[in-house]
Amino acid sequence: MSAEETLILVKPDGVARGLTGEILRRVESKGYRLVDIRLVTADRSLLAEHYAEHEGKPFFEPLLEFMSSGPIVAIRAEGNRVIEGFRALAGATDPTVALPGTIRGDLGRDWGLKVQQNLVHGSDSSLSAERELKLWFS
Ligand code: RTP
Ligand code: MG
Repeated sequence: MSAEETLILVKPDGVARGLTGEILRRVESKGYRLVDIRLVTADRSLLAEHYAEHEGKPFFEPLLEFMSSGPIVAIRAEGNRVIEGFRALAGATDPTVALPGTIRGDLGRDWGLKVQQNLVHGSDSSLSAERELKLWFS
């Protein structure tokens, strides 16, 4: 059986704040393997597909605007249970309540904006991982 894969994104706030190395360090220190990595300036259609589940929500437009505000580092990472494991490393969506020890809890905060800038994305299921990896690496 081949090991599980997930899509990790260092969002534009993480790249702009110079935290890409720190985030990759945490992923590698946990023991996951980096299979592929690229710096992407995402266009609206890619982002709208990526976040299709949130279409119609009040934060959808601000989210697309935020995610297109600068380069993103997209990572294909591999390891047994990496999907669940990276979500645990990332922490809760809201960086104010994300636990210390997590990426969002240690490195993120609320900036009073229309959408939470929370440094990273991680696929939330094997179906999402498969779909998202196709979008970002093809
Ligand atoms: P992601 O998809 O980016 O990994 O984050 P997630 O699963 O933890 O959170 P999700 O509910 O999928 O939301 C996607 C992204 O939208 C922004 N968001 N802001 N009320 C808000 O201000 C709000 N709600 C969601 C965040 O950037 C979140 O990561
Ligand atoms: Mg999500």
